[in-house]
Amino acid sequence: MSDSCFSLDGASIAFAAGQTILQAAMDAGHYIPHLCFHPELKPHGSCKVCSVRVDGNMMASCTTPARQGMKVESATTEVDDQRRAVVQMLFVEGNHFCPSCEQSGRCKLQATAYELQMTSPHFDHFFPDRAVDASHPDFLLDFNRCILCSLCVRASRDVDQKAVFGLAGRGIGTRLIVNSESGRLGDSDFAATDKAAQVCPVGAILRKRQGFNVPIGQRTYDVAPIRESDRGGPEKR
Ligand code: SF4
Ligand code: FES
Repeated sequence: MSDSCFSLDGASIAFAAGQTILQAAMDAGHYIPHLCFHPELKPHGSCKVCSVRVDGNMMASCTTPARQGMKVESATTEVDDQRRAVVQMLFVEGNHFCPSCEQSGRCKLQATAYELQMTSPHFDHFFPDRAVDASHPDFLLDFNRCILCSLCVRASRDVDQKAVFGLAGRGIGTRLIVNSESGRLGDSDFAATDKAAQVCPVGAILRKRQGFNVPIGQRTYDVAPIRESDRGGPEKR
């Protein structure tokens, strides 16, 4: 093993200085499930779907720096069981009706559930009462599907320099907010060209007048499972 390698499920993974475990693994063609990571945005480490066992301890691979000689376990029954439980919690905390969702087939939550062989939500549904904001001329904001990954928050703040979105509250009360006086997207300066308009991994930020432009069955994750089609690159819509 060279000076800049770690072991991932027995494979030797080379890494560059400053890379995280997830970045190095993806660059080497190894898929680690993840939801709140985007290669162009600062990692947030909130969803915990990318958790791996590092020298015996569970860590978020998107925020843990790669270290020479570390032993990382990802593709184990125990780690996948924990990831599946996290994804199941995400499903019951919001209102996700995959068969009628416009993002079916290109939703990372749905694709990750398939990847982890989730066959039921396991936990009781919360059925939260959440709004739909249709005030923007070009986008629909459906809070029912938001998984609080903060990708839109980071993209709007760090790339678009607008801070259209924010997370408010704590714990189970955490919610996505729009930073306009009315709290409505239509009263913000959110635009179709924003990075924040491209990064939502689910169907919470939806472009209007493009519904079902690609038939279900021919979409990104219909064609290939997420472990084959997602190497951490830009979202494919
Ligand atoms: Fe993440 Fe989408 Fe919710 Fe923004 S709207 S926090 S990108 S799920
Ligand atoms: Fe690492 Fe969400 S992808 S914590």
